[in-house]
Amino acid sequence: MTFPPLPLRPLGSTGPQVSALGLGCMGMSALYGEADRAESIATIHAALESGITLLDTGDFYGMGHNELLINEALRTAPAAAREKALTSVKFGALRDPDGGWSGYDGRPAAVKNFAAYSLQRLGTDHIDIYRIARVDPDVPVEETIGAIAELVQAGHVRHIGLSEFGAESIRRAAAVAPISDLQIEYSLISRGIEQEILPTTRELGIGVTAYGVLSRGLISGHFTRDRALAPGDFRGMSPRFQGENLRHNLGLVEALRKIAEQKGVSVAQIAIAWVLSRGEDIVPLVGARRRDRLTEALGALDVTLGADDLAAIEQAVPAGAAAGDRYPTAQMAHLDSER
Ligand SMILES: NC(=O)c1ccc[n+]([C@@H]2O[C@H](COP(=O)([O-])OP(=O)(O)OC[C@H]3O[C@@H](n4cnc5c(N)ncnc54)[C@H](OP(=O)(O)O)[C@@H]3O)[C@@H](O)[C@H]2O)c1
Repeated sequence: MTFPPLPLRPLGSTGPQVSALGLGCMGMSALYGEADRAESIATIHAALESGITLLDTGDFYGMGHNELLINEALRTAPAAAREKALTSVKFGALRDPDGGWSGYDGRPAAVKNFAAYSLQRLGTDHIDIYRIARVDPDVPVEETIGAIAELVQAGHVRHIGLSEFGAESIRRAAAVAPISDLQIEYSLISRGIEQEILPTTRELGIGVTAYGVLSRGLISGHFTRDRALAPGDFRGMSPRFQGENLRHNLGLVEALRKIAEQKGVSVAQIAIAWVLSRGEDIVPLVGARRRDRLTEALGALDVTLGADDLAAIEQAVPAGAAAGDRYPTAQMAHLDSER
């Protein structure tokens, strides 16, 4: 079987070439309520068959559930698709049996322990890109990155990534070993990286894998005020999804919808296309967990935004237009990128 080529983008000057869209698998195991296992696997298969090569996960997404799901999806995918798949794995978040979050662990021994379990769960002999989910404030960045560099030397990991690092930590990490990409939230309504972080990654030749390009569904055009959220759904705690903030933010979506309708595309496609338009060094991770959502997301690759479109989008959703922080207060405190 052959697969149609999807545009490729480089992950930094030292990382691999990956499809211009990556698939974020988090919502298939955690944080957005129940997901359908068979549909999740079908979505991963459809992504691979459409030419997506980058699968993003975290060992803490459903405490190993997401890695086991990816293992099953890869085992049951056609060989040609499986061979092109690259795994991007986050580690370091500490969980408890009730689903709570209790900090981050970036000690070198912990890094190797996390990696040993991930390799086993993924059923592979190497992880393509490995990254700590958040800077561990108790461990110098150099020690955490140094431990991943040792995993690279031993052949267990191919490339080192970062997640939600601020500019200074990015520089410290890059001084230890080559870094392929920084994973960080970036969307029409989360543009904080434009001031300092993006200029830093560009200066250092580090790519960006952007998550939350639909702001977790908020700017997908499908989210409504009356949507019932399951207990534990991140969006039930996210400031942007609360009361007056939600009303304001959905107003931005309606402004975006007018532009989308004029172009004959969907709101989600405009939002993803806008992130794609920010530079060849940026690879949006889309959190589709159903095949119909994936098809919609892939359609963004065919949307061309001209200068007039970009100006209209900027007017509809100017930088800083969102109401509410992108994480609850306690989680904002873990973001080195927000310091
Ligand atoms: N490094 C980090 O700190 C970090 C944090 C969060 C996520 N991530 C990674 O980034 C990935 C993407 O993040 P995200 O899930 O927050 O991103 P997202 O793409 O902004 O949001 C995904 C949500 O949008 C909704 N949606 C509606 N239309 C969609 C469409 N056409 N395509 C895709 N989704 C659509 C889906 O909801 P329905 O399923 O209800 O339709 C889904 O729950 C995650 O899977 C994870 O791998 C990393």
